[in-house]
Amino acid sequence: MLLQVYIQKLLDFVAQDCWITDMNKTTPNLDAAYGLKTPEDNQRLYAQWAEDYDHSFADEMDYQLPQEVARLFAHNGGTGPVLDIGAGTGLVAEALISYGIGPIDALDISQEMLNVAAAKGVYRNLMAKDITVPFEPETHRYAGLISSGTFTTGHVGPEALDHLLAIALPGACFALSINALHWKAQGFESKFTALEGQICNFKLADVAIYGARNTSSHKDDRGRIALFEKL
Ligand SMILES: C[S@@+](CC[C@H](N)C(=O)[O-])C[C@H]1O[C@@H](n2cnc3c(N)ncnc32)[C@H](O)[C@@H]1O
Repeated sequence: MLLQVYIQKLLDFVAQDCWITDMNKTTPNLDAAYGLKTPEDNQRLYAQWAEDYDHSFADEMDYQLPQEVARLFAHNGGTGPVLDIGAGTGLVAEALISYGIGPIDALDISQEMLNVAAAKGVYRNLMAKDITVPFEPETHRYAGLISSGTFTTGHVGPEALDHLLAIALPGACFALSINALHWKAQGFESKFTALEGQICNFKLADVAIYGARNTSSHKDDRGRIALFEKL
């Protein structure tokens, strides 16, 4: 009888352990990324995705958002030094460099994504950090703050805007993409209204996230690019 109880407990433990292992093996793709809930979930998923992200996501999905955000930042008079928030593998910096804008620093919660970006040599400094947590007082101040694909479902909400404003120089130019569904669901509109005394020249651009080669269920996904300056 005792042996039976022991064997059952052992079987329960093995079953539970396998379940946890499976839960941690999220297949990296866009739908898995949208299903994330916490900064720790993001760290786990992007650690697995980093090496393959440029190929299996950016190239295969015909991902145009980094180039669109960089184009609007440049056309809106954006200059360096720039901080790229949720820089990932460095697609925004590659686009910014084509406009002659720099230096560019990278911030991301995923050290693995930053490692891929570092190998491209497009950033001055790379910072592994969770943007939902305030910066240390000694953090650099920036004339430009840019972000593509980070303010989106399962990732970062409007609370991070206060942290970004705290490290922006007066007159700093912002270009931040916010997924259109996330904009509604997370109340970005009322957050920007509440920031009225701290920002000026606020504009919203509506852009396609993916190009014509994308035939997936996400092909028509839209992003809003919030363009504004710090007072
Ligand atoms: C969809 S990727 C976008 C990467 C890059 N900007 C691009 O457009 O290809 C989202 C990035 O946000 C980062 N991220 C998610 N949550 C974060 C957080 N709380 N703080 C900082 N970075 C975060 C992820 O690690 C990931 O690199």
